[in-house]
Amino acid sequence: MITRRHHLAVLAAATVAAGSALAQSDTVKIGVILPMTGQQASTGKQIDAAIKLWLAQNGNKVAGKKVEVIVKDDAGVADTSRRLAQELVVNDKVVALAGFGLTPIALATAPIATQSKTPMVVMAAATSSITEASPYIVRTSFTLPQAAVAMGEWAPKNGIKKVVTLVADYGPGNDAEKYFADRMQLNGAQVLEKLRTPLRAPDFAPVLQKARDAKPDAIFVFLPSGQGAQFMKQFAERGLDKAGIKLIATGDVTDDDQLADMGDVALGVVNAHHYSAAHPSAMNKKFVAEFQALNKFRPNFMAMGGWDGMRVIVNALNTTK
Ligand code: PHB
Repeated sequence: MITRRHHLAVLAAATVAAGSALAQSDTVKIGVILPMTGQQASTGKQIDAAIKLWLAQNGNKVAGKKVEVIVKDDAGVADTSRRLAQELVVNDKVVALAGFGLTPIALATAPIATQSKTPMVVMAAATSSITEASPYIVRTSFTLPQAAVAMGEWAPKNGIKKVVTLVADYGPGNDAEKYFADRMQLNGAQVLEKLRTPLRAPDFAPVLQKARDAKPDAIFVFLPSGQGAQFMKQFAERGLDKAGIKLIATGDVTDDDQLADMGDVALGVVNAHHYSAAHPSAMNKKFVAEFQALNKFRPNFMAMGGWDGMRVIVNALNTTK
């Protein structure tokens, strides 16, 4: 709560700075930069749908003005995101930038937010250091250590004493590996091997073979949203489940959006995450039902970050008029 309130205060202060653009027009523009194409397209699809849902539920008026959301596709490329952010600030005079599907994208765009004093709402990217890249950044997604530490607490208490880690080789993967391994070791467990795959076009076969050869009780995995189904398929094909190696993960791997495509290999996987479409609260049941009334797919944690991000932006605009 304290963190949320602090974030809202930061955002409100930043919105005051952007207030002159707001005063000149009957429309408030919000610039959303997402990977709508390319390897991370599922993240773009989820967040775009969640923003549309938020507007359908709450209307498109804020402080007496019309909200216009401009969605731009960066295809998951940091240089493109940075250029789009510049255009949105200079040409469209957006009062906030939002979206950001990958850590390198959020980091590359942060200087634009700082230089133009534009609030930047990170709805997806999850390396812990991102919020330090600009005083204008607020995040509505999560950080990998939040999920990885929970897993490192649970596993040793549930019979997992020897593990191999497997992460995507960039910011959030580094975070997940470090915080999970440290917590496992603190709890007396052994980390046999730390394996990594490239962010772009990963090949899981060689690392799965290495993981199998190490004979761990479990393999702990972080991969960015969108890679889970392909990984799970290869995990089963290589027979790790049959070899009695448990799969534990952050919820990015057992992504709600892809769960239906994973088959029986997903049964028995244990993950730690800040969101599940199955969470039984009244608020989440309503969110999922209304999301699915508008879309043919289940919302995942990216959708939740997008929906929350819209709430934060509109609340800040209402507060500052
Ligand atoms: C990131 O690049 O920060 C990222 C992307 C997808 C995830 C988690 C983190 O599921």
